[in-house]
Formats: sequence, structure tokens, C-alpha cells
Amino acid sequence: MSSPSFTSSIHVFCLALLFQIAMGVDPLFHFCSNSENFTAKGSYGKNLNKLIGDLYFKTPQTGFGLDSVGQYHDRTYGLSLCRGDVSSKDCKACIGEAGSEIQKSCPDNKRAIIWYDNCLLKYANSDFFGKIDDQNRFYMLNSRNVSDPYSFNLKTRELLSQLSKEAYGNRKMYAAGESKLANSEKLYGLVQCTRDLSSGDCKKCLDDAISELPSCCDGKEGGRVVGGSCYIRYEIYPFVKV
Ligand SMILES: *[C@@H]1O[C@H](CO)[C@@H](O)[C@H](O)[C@H]1NC(C)=O
Ligand SMILES: *[C@@H]1O[C@H](CO)[C@@H](O)[C@H](O)[C@H]1NC(C)=O
Repeated sequence: MSSPSFTSSIHVFCLALLFQIAMGVDPLFHFCSNSENFTAKGSYGKNLNKLIGDLYFKTPQTGFGLDSVGQYHDRTYGLSLCRGDVSSKDCKACIGEAGSEIQKSCPDNKRAIIWYDNCLLKYANSDFFGKIDDQNRFYMLNSRNVSDPYSFNLKTRELLSQLSKEAYGNRKMYAAGESKLANSEKLYGLVQCTRDLSSGDCKKCLDDAISELPSCCDGKEGGRVVGGSCYIRYEIYPFVKV
């Protein structure tokens, strides 16, 4: 017999699944920077359209794209990244969705960023390549409490630190894995950096994200610290495609 709350969460899950199939996937979050805008008449918007098109064609092959379009103050810089386990087909779909959604959400802002489960897309009117983005950041969490927060937090930190070591040492700057919890359950983790970062900056970005776990997700069953240059995630269920 399942409890009522369990049943209702299954219903919510199924509805969410149907909704995603019918409507495409919703973004996790986006930021538009209001500090500088462009007008429809200028060439920034044209450059941005080209940039977003370029990233759409470039990214699926490798899961990562960097590009810049235009000259001087109308130049725009863009970056796109798909999660390390995402197929090139799903990557293409995600970058396509991200490109059109960000232009709808931030129609005249010179800087913006949007995140999905499968990808992120960012652009700006200055060269941000190779620099850690410590401005765009948000948390997500599963609000259910674990029964033994102290040891659970330690396990989470341990897994993500180990994955982080793996990620900053490899070309994709991505790692996913699992570890055992005491009660024969498992903990699943994922870490990823944007590949414009040096290995040292990838490490720094991930270390910073891990250090935010206590303020983000203390004793929670799942959590994410998501930034413009790296992100980390853990859950007690598998969420990575193998
Ligand atoms: C840019 O546009 C936003 C609305 O989209 C507005 O709130 C903001 O003040 C504008 N910024 C500048 C510098 O004009
Ligand atoms: C988790 O624990 C906190 C206090 O430690 C409590 O305020 C909160 O309601 C709990 N959340 C759930 C979903 O049980």
C-alpha cells in the first residue's frame, strides 16, 4: 500500500512528464542584465542573432561552443554548453530551445544567461571567455530532509570533491558518479565546468560551489549549485544518462 503523499507525488511526476513531452522543456532559470540594452535598429541585435545561430550549429558536435560576432561596441560574445552525458541530438534540441527562449525572455538586454537540465547558453557584450562567472548563480533543492544530516552532508561533499578532481583533469570538464550510503541507498552526483576555463579555474569554480552546499542544501535529499561557469548536483536517485 502506498501512502497518499507518495501517490500524489507520482501523479505530479506523470503530469510533469506529459507536459514536457507536449510543450518542450522549461528552463531552470534565466537572468537578463538590465545594465545595457540594445535597440532594434542597431547592429548588436543582428550580431546576436548570428551568434545564436552559430552556437546552434557548433555545439552539438562536441557539447560546447564559443563564438563572437561583430566589431567594437557592437560585438557580442557567446558560450553554450551541454551536460556531459547528453546526446548530440538532445544537445541540439536544448540549444535551439535556449536560443529562442532567451531572446523572448531578454529581448533587448546585451547580456543574458539561461539554464536547462541539458544545457546552458550565455552571451554578453564583453569578452568573458576563460573567466570564472561569479555573478550568475542560483540554487535548487529537494526540500525533503535526510534522517542523518551530518553524515549525509559529509558523504555529499566527499562524492562531489572526488568528482571535481576527475572533472578538472579531463577534456570535457565533466564527471558523474555514485557512492554508497549507510542504508544501502546510493548517492548520485555530477559536476561540470564550461570548457573555456583553465583546469585550475575549473577546480576553483567547483570548490566554491561545493563550499556553498551548507547554505544551499544542508541536510536535503538533493541539491544543485548552478553558475555561469560550473555547476554541481547531487540526488538520491539516478539522474544521469549512462
Ligand atoms: C534596459 O531595459 C530594461 C527593461 O527591459 C529596463 O528595466 C532597464 O532600465 C534598461 N536599462 C537601461 C540602462 O536603459
Ligand atoms: C526540514 O527540516 C526543517 C528544520 O530542520 C523544517 O523547518 C522543514 O519543515 C523540514 N522540511 C520537510 C519537508 O520536512
